[in-house]
Formats: sequence, structure tokens, C-alpha cells
Amino acid sequence: MIKIAVFASGGGSNLQALIDARETGLFKKAAIALVFSNQPESGALERASNHRIEGVSIASKGYSGTREEYDEEVLRLCRAKKIDLICLAGYMRIMTPVLIKPYLYKIMNIHPALLPKFGGPGMFGHHVHEAVVKAKEKESGASVHFVTEGVDSGPIILQGDVKVLPGDTAAVLAERVLRVEHQIYPEAVRLFCEGKLHVENGRVKIAY
Ligand code: GRF
Repeated sequence: MIKIAVFASGGGSNLQALIDARETGLFKKAAIALVFSNQPESGALERASNHRIEGVSIASKGYSGTREEYDEEVLRLCRAKKIDLICLAGYMRIMTPVLIKPYLYKIMNIHPALLPKFGGPGMFGHHVHEAVVKAKEKESGASVHFVTEGVDSGPIILQGDVKVLPGDTAAVLAERVLRVEHQIYPEAVRLFCEGKLHVENGRVKIAY
């Protein structure tokens, strides 16, 4: 059984998409064993509790140690729970190598744009969609990628596109992109759980 941890800071709609996919049998050999948040008030923790999934939070606000010490605590937690795959779903922290190295190509993230466009430091949440609208892009979308050192720059696993329509506001576009996120994230997790994702020369190869 592959044990998945989902890390989230916000409302957790992507977490919900993963929970729903698990419950409807999309990835049979896996279980969502842990939801972790740096925000004790995160809606994601409530969703976890609604589905009897263990939820743990370590508040990042006011944390007295370094970012590395924080990640050491998180790593200990993941090891104690024997986590095989970490899915970042709106987790608003940049991870340090303390976590990334031991879980290399075992941490995924969902980003609300077609990477490598509109990624990198400062490109999160509404900032992404505002930048897309401002740049008058004709299409946007979402990307699931493995997390490596460097923000939003790891190997891309799956992408889904959406049209940017005339008159779209960032908020309208965000909703359209979110619907695609909810489709491609569970699919990426399914591929991982079925052992179909391999990274060669920094690129993901999918064994269909
Ligand atoms: C999503 O747009 C995701 O792409 C980004 O953070 C947002 C999380 O939304 N990384 P939710 O909490 O899953 O609803």
C-alpha cells in the first residue's frame, strides 16, 4: 500500500479531489494517510477530519526555529508515518533540501499555470492569474510537477490547458483552471501509484 501525505495551507479543494478519487477507486493501491498543514486553521484539516484522515499541523507563524528545523520536524513526521508520496496542494511554503532530498521525485506540486510560464518566486494564487490576464495570454492551465530545489522548476508530470476568454478576470480564470487541477492531480497520483512515472535526464517519462 502506497501511503500518501497531502500538504495544504488553504481551503483544500485539490485535497478534496484526491480524497474523492481515492474513494471512487482511481488509485486502489494507495491511501491518503496524512494531511499536513502549516496553518492550524486550514480548511484542509477540516476536510481530513470529515474523511477520518489524520491531520497534523505545525504552525509556521511564530515558529521559533529555522526553515530547515521546521522541515526536519516534518520529515520526522513523514518517516514515522511511512509516507511514500507527498502531494503539495496549495502548501504555501517553499521546502528546503532537508525534505526535498530524501523525497526526491516523491513530492508533487500542482501549479495553476502552464509551467514554465508564470512560475517561480511570487507566482502563487491570484498573482498567477493576474499575470496571465495582464499578458493577454490566449491559453492558461495547470501543471503537476515533481518538486526539486528551485521554485516551480521540477520535471513536469501532466498539464491541462484552458482557454483565456475575452473579458476574463483573474478570478474567473482561476475557477476555470481549478476545475482542470482537480482532473489532472488525481491522474498524476494514479500514474505514480501504478509505477508509471520515471524521471530520465530531468524529464518525466510516462509508461502507458
Ligand atoms: C491551487 O490553485 C493550486 O494550484 C495552488 O494553490 C491552490 C490551492 O487551492 N498551488 P486549494 O486549496 O486546493 O483549493
